[in-house]
Amino acid sequence: MEIFYDKKTFSEYIKTQKEKNKTIGFAPTMGALHAGHISLYKEARQKNDIVISSIFVNPTQFNNPEDLEKYPRTIDVDIKKLENSNLVNAVYIPRVEDIYPNRMERKHYNFGGIENEMEGAARPGHFDGVGTVVEELFVQVQPDNAYFGEKDFQQLKIIEKLVEVLNLKINIHGVKIHREENGLAMSSRNMRLSEIEKETSSLIYKTLKQVNDWTKTLNISDIKEKVENIFNQGEMDLEYFMIADEETLKEVNSISNDKNYRAFIVVNIGNVRLIDNLHLD
Ligand code: PAF
Repeated sequence: MEIFYDKKTFSEYIKTQKEKNKTIGFAPTMGALHAGHISLYKEARQKNDIVISSIFVNPTQFNNPEDLEKYPRTIDVDIKKLENSNLVNAVYIPRVEDIYPNRMERKHYNFGGIENEMEGAARPGHFDGVGTVVEELFVQVQPDNAYFGEKDFQQLKIIEKLVEVLNLKINIHGVKIHREENGLAMSSRNMRLSEIEKETSSLIYKTLKQVNDWTKTLNISDIKEKVENIFNQGEMDLEYFMIADEETLKEVNSISNDKNYRAFIVVNIGNVRLIDNLHLD
């Protein structure tokens, strides 16, 4: 596996791959790699000649400076995991100035309104920051296919829109959520949970599965009340729960058969913010 720490040498690598007509599959990350990331590379390996990952903790997508400071950084372990996976041809670990050559600031995007729902409302500027870094990485990596986990389902939809708005010829692939044995969705933030907190957090997925069953018999306001009661009794603070249309990401009050819906949960446990979602069948 090749490792690139700056834009110049990385661009030469990309140029060579393009000259050889190699197809490129790309999975951007912020590091602290786990099995969820590996599943992105596995997916990418099946369709592309070259699989590239990036590791860059992007400051402009953090609306909370403490969250940025506490974000786990485990670069040496990450490189070992990438090497051991045998799935990745190259990793790009850019410096801040490779991504933000002038000022480190967010661009502003219009993603048709989905940027204002859920995480967009809870974390102002977050999706502009994600759009800014992913647009720049797409320019530098020039992938044919790019892979994003469904855990950040809204982010996946934002990236699909980004490609549409910028008219880029990149196929965006969503990859199913990878879970711990107890159901906790894999996330780099899980590293900050104690063993007890990890166990407690299994309630998130259990609740999502119950929600899926309840939608068959209960109306949405009753489901919301039930979910709020579940979290009122435990150690986790429910930040929001909602059922939303998968296309518009707008919260719905009722379900119709011709549309797809997803349940979304965000909780805080200690000072860790966890998000999860489930497609409703
Ligand atoms: O999902 C992430 O890890 C990040 O938001 C991404 C897509 C790498 C952009 O920084």
